[in-house]
Amino acid sequence: MINHKLLAAAAVDAKSRAYAPYSRFHVGAALLCADGNVYIGCNIESAAYPATICAERTALTKAISEGVRKIRAIAVAGSFPDKEGNYCYPCGVCRQMLHEFVTDDFEVIIAKSADDYRVHKWEEILPYGFGPKDLA
Ligand code: THU
Repeated sequence: MINHKLLAAAAVDAKSRAYAPYSRFHVGAALLCADGNVYIGCNIESAAYPATICAERTALTKAISEGVRKIRAIAVAGSFPDKEGNYCYPCGVCRQMLHEFVTDDFEVIIAKSADDYRVHKWEEILPYGFGPKDLA
């Protein structure tokens, strides 16, 4: 069983490390791998704006570069630090990159806080996705 609350709390914590001087929108992610390990990430912006990386892909690239190939769940928390946040859903690029490694039962936790979050099945986040199975 996935501890949604713990993963949501880790994403909220990771958000505090965001480097986002341009948008000032802070995002944190906590990625639970099939082996039980958790990798966190934050968004990292660049003065050359398109070079920015989202929190989800920071966490994913950390995990994959450590040898992980199957991921079980991700929690995402995003907001302006000085405002009440909305639920922050992964962008299209992150959805596609995550798709490469998701388990069939992958879950997405969208957190405003450790106590206020929504849980989605992957199919709701990326229906009809194109992935490794299409090229098998
Ligand atoms: N961002 C993320 O890190 N993840 C999301 O799910 C949405 C957007 C970042 C990218 C950029 O640094 C800032 O939020 C505003 O788009």
